[in-house]
Amino acid sequence: MLLGSEAAHDLVAAWPDRPYTLTLPGDSPIGRVISAQTIRGFLDTGCAPSAYVNVFHRGEGLHPARYSSDDRVLPASAQVLLDKGCTFQLRELNRWHPPLGVFCAGIQAETGCAGYVTAFITPPGHQGLDYHWDQYLSIVVQLEGSKTWELWKPRVDAPYRDHSMSTDLWQDEWVAQWMQAGPDYEFELTVGDVLVLPRGWVHNPHSRNASEASVHLTFVLKERVPQWVAERLIGSAINDVRFRTVIPPSGLDPAQMPETIKGVRALVIDYLNGLNVEEMVPALRHAAEKEMSHATL
Ligand SMILES: [Fe+2]
Repeated sequence: MLLGSEAAHDLVAAWPDRPYTLTLPGDSPIGRVISAQTIRGFLDTGCAPSAYVNVFHRGEGLHPARYSSDDRVLPASAQVLLDKGCTFQLRELNRWHPPLGVFCAGIQAETGCAGYVTAFITPPGHQGLDYHWDQYLSIVVQLEGSKTWELWKPRVDAPYRDHSMSTDLWQDEWVAQWMQAGPDYEFELTVGDVLVLPRGWVHNPHSRNASEASVHLTFVLKERVPQWVAERLIGSAINDVRFRTVIPPSGLDPAQMPETIKGVRALVIDYLNGLNVEEMVPALRHAAEKEMSHATL
């Protein structure tokens, strides 16, 4: 639907560690089920739920009161802010636009990666978000106009969930370093271009050189990592009564805590050693394909 069957097969077979671009396949349902017009329509009709909309200007977020009322984005306010050069981000469209829900479910069935899809509208000559990295792999689809993506190699290894987030680790001097070095890759996406951006790559997307508004979709693929499998293995320990017996308050006393931890560690090792791997397979596969909760991604 996004990459074409051959490129999709390649992506699943050899997970990418550097960015690359493709052309949306001719038979992609993108365009029929979602277009720049559909996305603008959410704003123009007042249908966009404000909890799922962020507005940025030069890298900074605006307070929702500037553009929303009664839990919806106000069409007139949206137009004023777009005219001022603000970027609109319509988050998790898969949760409120059913055709994109089908897309994300399909991606998850094929890859085992849960995720969501977000749309961005950036007026020409402007920029919404600036330098940052994300905790997931992105597949960007340009629907209208153009956007320039300046990309740099990851600054940290394997950022995941709230570990090693760019907002937490940020050092202001990095931007000067990146600007001086120049990007490792630079892609100018135009209509029908697709960018595969691996987790952790630093990006500075902008429409400063564009002559018309840019509208793109970002499909997020939250990759599974050993931590995720480990949590499910240990989660299954709830079925073992030894993991449900009380640790009395005395066991939580700092003086007693080392013994408590050693005891639980021994239990965990014993439990995991006895785990029936074959029995875990369907549960893990089902979780990979179906689990969507933000708490467990
Ligand atoms: Fe990003």
